[in-house]
Amino acid sequence: MTDGTTRPLRAGVIGLGMMGRNHVRVWDEAVDGAELVAVADPDRGAVARATNGRRAAGYDDPNRMLAEAELDLVSIVAPTSLHLPLTLAALEAGTNVLVEKPIAATREEATEMIDAAAAAGKMLTVGHIERFNPAIRELHRRLSEGELGRVFQISATRLGPFPARIRDVGVVVDLAPHDLDVMRYLIGSEPIRIFAEAERRIHTEHEDLFNGIMKFENGVIGILNINWLTATKRRTLTVTGERGYYVADYIAQHLDFYANPDAQATWQNRGGDAFGGPITSVAEGEMTRRSIRRAEPLAVELDEFARAVREGSPPPVDPHDAMVALLLARRMVESALTGEVITGAALAETVA
Ligand SMILES: NC(=O)c1ccc[n+]([C@@H]2O[C@H](COP(=O)([O-])OP(=O)(O)OC[C@H]3O[C@@H](n4cnc5c(N)ncnc54)[C@H](O)[C@@H]3O)[C@@H](O)[C@H]2O)c1
Repeated sequence: MTDGTTRPLRAGVIGLGMMGRNHVRVWDEAVDGAELVAVADPDRGAVARATNGRRAAGYDDPNRMLAEAELDLVSIVAPTSLHLPLTLAALEAGTNVLVEKPIAATREEATEMIDAAAAAGKMLTVGHIERFNPAIRELHRRLSEGELGRVFQISATRLGPFPARIRDVGVVVDLAPHDLDVMRYLIGSEPIRIFAEAERRIHTEHEDLFNGIMKFENGVIGILNINWLTATKRRTLTVTGERGYYVADYIAQHLDFYANPDAQATWQNRGGDAFGGPITSVAEGEMTRRSIRRAEPLAVELDEFARAVREGSPPPVDPHDAMVALLLARRMVESALTGEVITGAALAETVA
């Protein structure tokens, strides 16, 4: 996949709505070694707005753009129902693809996309933007180094007002894949049991209020608190472990650590070993705000996509992980509808 030259990679964007406009801006202004050369959307007004003041060519037909623009990279930011056909068309045109989340509507579609990328020898990655949030990156680094000792619980809060724009899916399929993906990324384990409750309070067809609970194979409990019914926007992830408690705030890009002073004391009393067996008490300790270099998550995401294509390295987000996040979200909806706990072979098949 390495092209062996240092010319800028030619980038395009398909779908110029709310999220597509951000891809256009970031490709145009914030990715080293890439240039935005073309954009496409059947809505001519959206094309005119995206190309205004830019050198990129505008198309009202994405297939024509793919045939003419000689793209190395494309962001697909059209409605989810179009992810499959647009991804197949881009791969066929020889373009590396970043498709927005959720990867597709179904497992069959996602599998077809993954297989087509492998057959074409092109990269397919998915816009799981929260993985690129500097607060989550730093938390991942610290958890990987075992800073928290044993992890007990991970809890995601994703609350906000009702988005009138989104009609085709409910809050679980729209938002939970973010948190399910981040949890698997941070915990490094698969859920073995899930249960959810959901309600529909404003949406005319789908759920807009959701609580999910999961047990991971390594014993960690995961909690999801997600809705479109809250009069303020909250995006946090907390992790409770032996040595303390982490709070990551996606919006502020803060990572705060609340130490459990008793963990160290317990281990010291047993001879000073750093992680010498289970802790016996918890107390309130000092809070430290970890130092984080802020960055726009989408700029990090597209930059890493371009770099991976240039260097021939693995996709920044493996599309299989994106598929699992989608399927787990769908299982959550199923649990809420049936009132059943999903476990055993049914769940193992979801994460396979
Ligand atoms: N990563 C994130 O946090 C995030 C946030 C918002 C949306 N998204 C995802 O981005 C995608 C788009 O969402 P949005 O909120 O921008 O939607 P939107 O409705 O604002 O925009 C969709 C755009 O796609 C265009 N479109 C329709 N058919 C097309 C076609 N055949 N070819 C090209 N363009 C076509 C529409 O004209 C519209 O301009 C969805 O998959 C959504 O889930 C991701």
